[in-house]
Amino acid sequence: MKILVTGGAGYIGSHTLVELVKEGYEPIVVDNYCNSFPEAVKRVERIVGKKIKVYEADIRDHDALSRIFDKESGIDCVIHFAGLKAVGESCKDPLAYYDNNIVGTLVLLEAMKAHGVKRIIFSSSATVYGDPVYLPYDEDHPVGNTTNPYGTTKYFQERILRDVCAADKDFTAVLLRYFNPVGAHESGLIGEDPQGIPNNLTPFIGRVLTGKLKELSVFGDDYDTTDGTCERDYIHVVDLARGHVAAVKKAVQKGVCVYNLGTGKSSSVLDVVHAFERASGKKVPYKISPRRDGDLPAYYADAKKAKRELDWEAKYSLDEMCGSVYEFNLKNPDGYNKSNK
Ligand code: NAD
Ligand code: UD1
Repeated sequence: MKILVTGGAGYIGSHTLVELVKEGYEPIVVDNYCNSFPEAVKRVERIVGKKIKVYEADIRDHDALSRIFDKESGIDCVIHFAGLKAVGESCKDPLAYYDNNIVGTLVLLEAMKAHGVKRIIFSSSATVYGDPVYLPYDEDHPVGNTTNPYGTTKYFQERILRDVCAADKDFTAVLLRYFNPVGAHESGLIGEDPQGIPNNLTPFIGRVLTGKLKELSVFGDDYDTTDGTCERDYIHVVDLARGHVAAVKKAVQKGVCVYNLGTGKSSSVLDVVHAFERASGKKVPYKISPRRDGDLPAYYADAKKAKRELDWEAKYSLDEMCGSVYEFNLKNPDGYNKSNK
């Protein structure tokens, strides 16, 4: 089965390519490399021992997408990862986020319609839930109370997909709401390689442990949580990738279906620090800093629906997640070969 993977060279996309090939699917990648490297797909090819077809194109380029759909006849399904994802950047340049994420999705959906492709699996985020009304968040928790343009693009994309399904009863949209994806493939060949100083916790600690950064700032230790630091539901990226394969296999009914992809467990910032220390055998130097604007104290997933309906559940522990980040950073101290960009 041919699956078009937008953003397939990215962090989650590259791990999903591995799981798709393992399960016998034929992924075809479209990526403009605005936040990734061609090297990532080459490394996926090394892991799976197969060539992967890649088109360098922007999903907002209607003609380029059309040509890809024409050439690759028989695409059954699209997994749509392509998008911009940095919360802080989205506050500084909201138009770039609305343009890339919303326009990109519209152009993709138009191309799918023109080519009779009626199934999409979409990368949404727990960010659509906003301030928790109750915890854990289940899929019926209210959405739309987003706090930044990035989150709003995810909410709007979900709405657009719902409208497309309402208009075409043969269309399937699977909305996967990710919690906090972390970790790297066990080979150490692919992982998260953010540009510049990482904003997110685990890549930051990964670089502290390899000496690239001096120390971690823990943003706030006075929250009403178990140890005063924020709590999140961290999920191994390989589990997340397996969740996409489960959705391809099992979420086949027409219309919209929504699944949380999380572990159902929350871990504090200090839990993550200690997991890295166990995995690396090194101390993580850190200092307590003021709270970061916009951070929610705690949230985690109710992941039972995905278990019930997709027969999927996360299996990796926090220690395994942190250990894999450490390994990836050790093997790739400068990330992917930047000269390949
Ligand atoms: P990523 O930046 O590593 O991957 C996104 C990929 O899309 C990159 O390879 C980038 O070059 C490509 N891309 C972006 N805009 C494009 C365009 N217009 N045309 C073609 N390619 C384009 O990000 P990721 O972490 O792998 O995230 C994948 C998806 O999952 C994103 O939509 C993101 O918003 C969503 N998501 C990510 C997280 C997370 O924490 N990583 C959490 C929730 C949701
Ligand atoms: C952020 C995004 C979210 C996105 C997710 C991807 C915000 C508000 N939300 O979530 O939309 O889906 O990334 O993984 O940015 N922390 C530190 N020190 C650091 C970095 C982080 O203490 O240097 C803490 C944060 O306060 C937070 C936790 O670590 O409590 C996780 O932070 P991060 O990895 O940035 O993810 P989120 O903020 O949960």
